[in-house]
Amino acid sequence: MKDQIEALNAKYNQATAEELLEGFLTEYKYKIALSSSLGIEDQILTNMVCAIDKTTKIFTLDTGRLFPETYDLIHRTNSKYGIKMNIYFPDATHVEEMVGKKGINLFFESVESRKLCCNIRKIEPLKRAFKGLDVWICGLRREQSVTRHDMQRIEWDEANGLIKLNPLIDWTEAEVIEYVKTHGVPYNPLHDKGFPSIGCQPCTRAIFPGEDIRAGRWWWENPDTKECGLHKR
Ligand code: ADX
Ligand code: SF4
Repeated sequence: MKDQIEALNAKYNQATAEELLEGFLTEYKYKIALSSSLGIEDQILTNMVCAIDKTTKIFTLDTGRLFPETYDLIHRTNSKYGIKMNIYFPDATHVEEMVGKKGINLFFESVESRKLCCNIRKIEPLKRAFKGLDVWICGLRREQSVTRHDMQRIEWDEANGLIKLNPLIDWTEAEVIEYVKTHGVPYNPLHDKGFPSIGCQPCTRAIFPGEDIRAGRWWWENPDTKECGLHKR
């Protein structure tokens, strides 16, 4: 698999994000999906994917703790592109047991409790979303975090047994903003209020000028632990 991934990276080395998507959407039709957190990078990918093939599966993990602005953006995005994003909700019994034992805001208690919450609200539903898929499209960028610096455009996701496509991996923040402006991409109004990276409402705060773009995510934790387990490597 390592050789195949290297060959794919070489094949698409000079390709634009759109060309990369077009190649994979054609080859893996019905076996490929975009996972969207409704963040600005995912909105760009939604715009690109819909221009190529609107029947592509685009899904979001609704943790039950998202910002109202994010729910509103799901609605606006569906309306603009004439699509229906697939919404995956966590298992009700698992959430009830977790908050019953550990409290409604357990994530502030310890990294372990925070990871349990991410696991039940994101990772379990993600496994369901992946059923029948070969390729997973994500909006990761290297610039976002120390944990993402050595990521490749095309990777093998060992944890899920999928090809992981990161079409915007080498995009800069300036390129992201430029694309959104030129293409009239709908985005979360929180981005204009100091939230470059948006996750669940209780676990995301606005950043201060000069802070790292993911400083507002799980802001009380050490930068090295700040992944929810979605992007295990
Ligand atoms: S996270 O791991 O810290 O939450 P981040 O918000 O940076 O991830 O998003 C990185 C990529 O993970 C997104 O581009 C998207 O592909 C995927 N992702 C993150 N959160 C969700 C979500 N709630 N639903 C679907 N995909 C998500
Ligand atoms: Fe739970 Fe926070 Fe993780 Fe959301 S980001 S699933 S609220 S711990």
